[in-house]
Amino acid sequence: MMKSQQKCIVIFALVCCFAVLVALIFSAVDVWGEDEDGITEDNCSNTCRAVVVENIPVDTSLPHNGSVPLTTGLHQLLDLALRSVEIVSPQWMLNSTEYESSFPTAKQGRFLLHRLMGLKSKRVNLKVASGVMDSKELDVLTRHGAEVHYLNMNILTKGHLQSSFWVVDRRHLFIGSASMDWRALSTLKEMGVIIYECSCLALDLHRIFSLYWQLQYKEFIPSIWSKRLNGLYNKNNTLSMFLDGSKAEAYVSSSPDALCPKYRMRDIDAIFRVIQGAKKFIYISVTDYLPLIKTSQQRYWSQIDGMLREALILKNISVRLLISCWAQTNSLTFNFVWSLKSLCMEMANCSLEAKFFSPREKGEEHVRQINHNRYMVTDTAVYIGNFDWVGNEFLYNAGAGLVVQQDRDDEGNSTLVQRVTAVFERDWFSHYAKTLQPSKIPVCSKHATQPPS
Ligand SMILES: *[C@@H]1O[C@H](CO)[C@@H](O)[C@H](O)[C@H]1NC(C)=O
Ligand SMILES: *[C@@H]1O[C@H](CO)[C@@H](O)[C@H](O)[C@H]1NC(C)=O
Ligand SMILES: *[C@@H]1O[C@H](CO)[C@@H](O)[C@H](O)[C@H]1NC(C)=O
Ligand SMILES: *[C@@H]1O[C@H](CO)[C@@H](O)[C@H](O)[C@H]1NC(C)=O
Ligand SMILES: *[C@@H]1O[C@H](CO)[C@@H](O)[C@H](O)[C@H]1NC(C)=O
Ligand SMILES: *[C@@H]1O[C@H](CO)[C@@H](O)[C@H](O)[C@H]1NC(C)=O
Ligand SMILES: *[C@@H]1O[C@H](CO)[C@@H](O)[C@H](O)[C@H]1NC(C)=O
Repeated sequence: MMKSQQKCIVIFALVCCFAVLVALIFSAVDVWGEDEDGITEDNCSNTCRAVVVENIPVDTSLPHNGSVPLTTGLHQLLDLALRSVEIVSPQWMLNSTEYESSFPTAKQGRFLLHRLMGLKSKRVNLKVASGVMDSKELDVLTRHGAEVHYLNMNILTKGHLQSSFWVVDRRHLFIGSASMDWRALSTLKEMGVIIYECSCLALDLHRIFSLYWQLQYKEFIPSIWSKRLNGLYNKNNTLSMFLDGSKAEAYVSSSPDALCPKYRMRDIDAIFRVIQGAKKFIYISVTDYLPLIKTSQQRYWSQIDGMLREALILKNISVRLLISCWAQTNSLTFNFVWSLKSLCMEMANCSLEAKFFSPREKGEEHVRQINHNRYMVTDTAVYIGNFDWVGNEFLYNAGAGLVVQQDRDDEGNSTLVQRVTAVFERDWFSHYAKTLQPSKIPVCSKHATQPPS
């Protein structure tokens, strides 16, 4: 009698332990219900079409040169949506009512918000992953049927959610510098890419979205990820595709390290790869370039700076750095850029050029027309990311990137890489881009005479 009772207790305890274990594992990695619409990496579509999308502020006189206005591109994506729209954005500030009198294009933000509010009535599911906890706009979208998952990036990685991309029906995607902010559709200069009919890449980007989706309210990052969050494509296994009729290789990347499951490439490695692959030139357009990590102390973050030095000195590659000159430009930026420039002094075949892009600034504090671009293009590839090139971003923030490698198209159509190069050159040779004078700190803002803290 006694014996069988003991046996029972032991078995019960074992069953309990097992159940707890299973619950723990599943709470960390649960995506079982997640459906990928029956599309797998074996039968996804890799014959795709790409357009460069840009927001060019109204009173900045730059032609589009082959790019499509960002608003047009995003509305086209919503026109195409049949089942699902997944959006991750660092900000939700589309409702611009109070600015519409001073910035007529500001109403584009409100139009987009209304489109998103109307998706449910077209039986399209809107899913949003957000790092912003108390957004009125997300509350409004929730009331209109959107599902919103909140990530506390501060607890997870001591950073922010800077990722900015859309996945539509797991077939089309948008990635770029623009967040869901009315300024991205009116006063900021933004650049991104929309890729249509590309379930292979969309599937992989969707996996990054799913990873965020799982982190809702989590206070720790699981040490095991579900296999269905693993990267599909990376530098070892690029997606071979046809983009606008010409051959291309592509993959997506993610940051920080803690949010990269197996086979997922890190942004910094993607950038490294693109720099390494360049044969003639590297053009970089970012708001801020600052190889520093600032926590309580500052320290030098050599990764990107080192790669550029190597490309300049050892590989005879010409580098053009187009950064922004604005109120929050850290004055150390100039020291780092000068240091790169002086490397090349008196050296034949070493060329680093730096310019500051500075469109006219409006007086109001948060409606500056800064160049918000975040991309790099070389003679062989393009990298479109979500970060400024500042150490902290890569170390702590969540972000994603897209790499497309492409050879010149012999049929005469311009490739994505060529189109992005044209966009860069348009900015570079425009009168908004000002050459950095040696040993002279440019005046980036009337207000910012002292370096920001
Ligand atoms: C793709 O393959 C999966 C499994 O191999 C299958 O279930 C699915 O129906 C296929 N989808 C299409 C669109 O062919
Ligand atoms: C946008 O903002 C205005 C004024 O702040 C408010 O009246 C309106 O309800 C907001 N619209 C949405 C869709 O939230
Ligand atoms: C070149 O572009 C045109 C229009 O975008 C397209 O119709 C044509 O198929 C492209 N050529 C090739 C070889 O893909
Ligand atoms: C690519 O392959 C190398 C060597 O096998 C390995 O160390 C690396 O982790 C792989 N990268 C990815 C993103 O899987
Ligand atoms: C270095 O680059 C320049 C310009 O791209 C080119 O003209 C020159 O031939 C290159 N030199 C070497 C040694 O590769
Ligand atoms: C620079 O390029 C020229 C032309 O290709 C070459 O003759 C010369 O040796 C190069 N100089 C250096 C320092 O690499
Ligand atoms: C941009 O387009 C204009 C007109 O279409 C053309 O004149 C100019 O050369 C182009 N600029 C670049 C850098 O491609």
